[in-house]
Amino acid sequence: MPSQQVFDSKDGAVYTTSNGVPVAEPYAAQKIGKSGPLLLQDFHHIDLLAHFDRERIPERVVHAKGAGAHGYFEVTHDISDLTCAKLFSKVGNRARTTMRFSTVGGESGSADTARDPRGFAIKIRTEEGNLDWVFNNTPVFFIRDPAKFPHFIHTQKRDPQTHLKDADMFWDYLSQNPESIHQVLILFSDRGTPDGFHNQHGYSGHAYKWVNAKGDWVYTQIHVRADGGFKTLDNDTAGKLGGDNPDYGTQSLFEAIEKKKYPSWTVYAQTMTAQQAENFRYNVLDLTKVWSHKEFPLRPIGKIVLDENVQNYFAEIEQAAFSPSHQVPGWEASADPVLQSRLFSYPDTHRHRLGANYQQLPVNAPVVPVANFQRDGPMCFINQGARPNYQSSIAPLSYVRKPYEETEAKHELWVGNARAELSEINELDFEQPRALYQKVMNDTDREHLVYNVAGHMKNIRSPVVRDRQLSVWAAVDHEPVGPHCEGPRRRVGAAAQGQARG
Ligand code: HEM
Repeated sequence: MPSQQVFDSKDGAVYTTSNGVPVAEPYAAQKIGKSGPLLLQDFHHIDLLAHFDRERIPERVVHAKGAGAHGYFEVTHDISDLTCAKLFSKVGNRARTTMRFSTVGGESGSADTARDPRGFAIKIRTEEGNLDWVFNNTPVFFIRDPAKFPHFIHTQKRDPQTHLKDADMFWDYLSQNPESIHQVLILFSDRGTPDGFHNQHGYSGHAYKWVNAKGDWVYTQIHVRADGGFKTLDNDTAGKLGGDNPDYGTQSLFEAIEKKKYPSWTVYAQTMTAQQAENFRYNVLDLTKVWSHKEFPLRPIGKIVLDENVQNYFAEIEQAAFSPSHQVPGWEASADPVLQSRLFSYPDTHRHRLGANYQQLPVNAPVVPVANFQRDGPMCFINQGARPNYQSSIAPLSYVRKPYEETEAKHELWVGNARAELSEINELDFEQPRALYQKVMNDTDREHLVYNVAGHMKNIRSPVVRDRQLSVWAAVDHEPVGPHCEGPRRRVGAAAQGQARG
């Protein structure tokens, strides 16, 4: 990992206190006599306990359980017509990269195989600063209005009284907010239980914007496709592994890299012009929709390889701070409201979780020098020396403009029309889930979906919640396309109702 000191078990180190003083008896506290009270002068003992008492930092409020590794991003195709990001200025450019995979709802000790979307976070250290891709393993998400996020997440966490996860909370929220159904459908297919952390694809989900040096821009969606394919577990195997080996994903990632079976992904982009966005059937800023691959083909742009395990999990993965707002020139956020909200939320939570100087931690520090007027704060160890802490006329910092800065105003030209009321639910919300269920899934996929949903919905206690969610499922498959679809449709209702009554 960049700028991380390497220590190993054979480095001949001598045991010391935190101020570097050798200690002869690490397993003994100083006492008066053989069994007398302890001594306040025993710095080693106090140093040891006081640090131990402070070992825990807050776990991530979501995505607390995860695993990660280092590697590289390599540009494989020329896309300099689309973005002026220096990373993409030459085929063959490589940047050191760190990836973290995670489950979303569980605590940091929860099972890697839980039914949940997976976080898919990537930090690419470019010569223009760090570019973070904070993606999931699904191309869509549960919400398209960010005000819903904390409420939605609370329903996946523990009940305030019982401290238990609660199927009623879960389905109560989802059935009242049916724009979630596309993501719920994916979640309850076997894609909701990937086989390990690295055998899966990642998706930007949001539309971002690529801007070229002339200021022309396109919307883009990134797809990071596992070279070994998206491997999944069936419900029962995932459940069994959750008990037998809750760290299954963490272990299989570490072992694959140790055995030099380096996980790798091919990175593709879909692009859409502003004019195409105007005529697009769906709102381009709606995170619950995908873009047809036929209409907007996947264009290869690069690859990612993970070829280096961490030396220290806490320093290199737990302290990693990813944010969609860590962007470089040529890579910009669209006006997607969920994305806009995330631009605030991540650095905010990092300041809480890791401190105001979280960007100075070795895993987060860019490989290029940082020069600005930020100073001091807790745990500040790169304080920019004698450089003035304001824009002095004697030793000024120079400013570099983005090549397209003057043309930026025209970026919003098309957004007004492309953006519609995102809170309303309408028939369009069911089209893509219906196509996924009726046309993309095969009979086995549908059988598994029904089994997985029934296994979860059987725990609902409230008939109102159960019936409301059943009506959402019914809205997905209300256009029978053949006998193979009629069956599963009937079974969703029958199985869930039957088991709920049972
Ligand atoms: C983690 C907020 C939606 C992907 C987090 C964290 C917060 C957060 C507070 C914890 C970060 C930390 O402590 O380091 C939100 C909000 C959202 C939202 C407010 C919507 C309004 C999304 C979406 C995606 C996503 C749509 C993917 C497309 C991730 C990932 C992580 C994460 C991958 C884990 C990052 C890591 O490994 O450190 N999110 N999130 N989130 N989020 Fe979101």
